[in-house]
Amino acid sequence: MTPSETVIRVEHLRKVYKHTIAVEDISFDVGRGEIFGLLGSNGAGKTTTVECLEGIRRADGGSIRVLGLDPQRQASALRGRVGSQLQESRLPDHLKVWEALELFAGLAPRALDWRELLNAWGLAEKRSSSFASLSGGQRQRLFVALALVSDPEIVVLDEMTTGLDPAARHVAWELIEEIRDRGATVVLVTHFMDEAERLCDRVAVVERGRIVALGAPVALIDEHAPELRVVFTAGDRDVGWLAGLDHVRAVTQGGPRVTVHGDGPVLALVAAALVERGMVPRDLRVERPSLEDVFLGLTGHHVED
Ligand SMILES: Nc1ncnc2c1ncn2[C@@H]1O[C@H](COP(=O)(O)OP(=O)(O)OP(=O)(O)O)[C@@H](O)[C@H]1O
Ligand SMILES: [Mg+2]
Repeated sequence: MTPSETVIRVEHLRKVYKHTIAVEDISFDVGRGEIFGLLGSNGAGKTTTVECLEGIRRADGGSIRVLGLDPQRQASALRGRVGSQLQESRLPDHLKVWEALELFAGLAPRALDWRELLNAWGLAEKRSSSFASLSGGQRQRLFVALALVSDPEIVVLDEMTTGLDPAARHVAWELIEEIRDRGATVVLVTHFMDEAERLCDRVAVVERGRIVALGAPVALIDEHAPELRVVFTAGDRDVGWLAGLDHVRAVTQGGPRVTVHGDGPVLALVAAALVERGMVPRDLRVERPSLEDVFLGLTGHHVED
């Protein structure tokens, strides 16, 4: 990341509900124009963290600066500059889609044209529908549109794409990239690892109120899940000898399918060795670890569980 102006600074954030330490000790910075992801298991403390950022909740310890201001004490100075899509929001049942957008636009010092947002988020057909009559995904889109209507410098999206159909998720991703291209900073809470990998410049993995890993998705994969898997079909031929190659850690053979666990140039080495012995498996390919592997490893959950 190129050094840029820090627009969010969280230092030793702590938040305790009556019987629960929701956030134990969380620190991170976000630079202007970044898409910063917060990942973590249910109950890890992500929503609590972003609610403190938004000034909705008072922290019990540590400090938060958003655009250089204290979101609790200087809330009015931040009005319109931070747009939030909250994880669980509601609007009055009878409120129509266009009325909600106009209402939110009216509250903002510098609003965007909400009609354009209506189109961008696929809600044009629903402009005169009441909130109560919207489907879950349509409500979700409306909340994102409402978060954007003030043309904020910082946009906080808490599980924005949960409940969206696959096509709508892809549209949402493009729109987030557009938001960023316009110069805004995005804080994105998500459970979708593909989404985080595709969109986020950096992610923080939160576990039990602490950050257990922070960095660019690619860097986290290299650091926490460096293993590559080369897979192919070998029929009934024994390929146990592959275990003797450099950069190979183990070979497992289950039926005709072979998996070679290794790192670095393992694909090229395995391919060359097979060719040398007259074997040219047509389905030879490498499976790269993903952010999901990193996440499952760090949060102590494994696919087998
Ligand atoms: N208003 C509240 N009162 C009491 N406890 C709360 C409250 N809100 C959250 N908690 C607790 O704080 C912890 C962190 O909750 P939080 O909502 O921040 O998690 P999260 O990471 O957003 O989880 P999810 O992925 O399920 O949305 C949880 O144990 C939760 O039960
Ligand atoms: Mg949450």
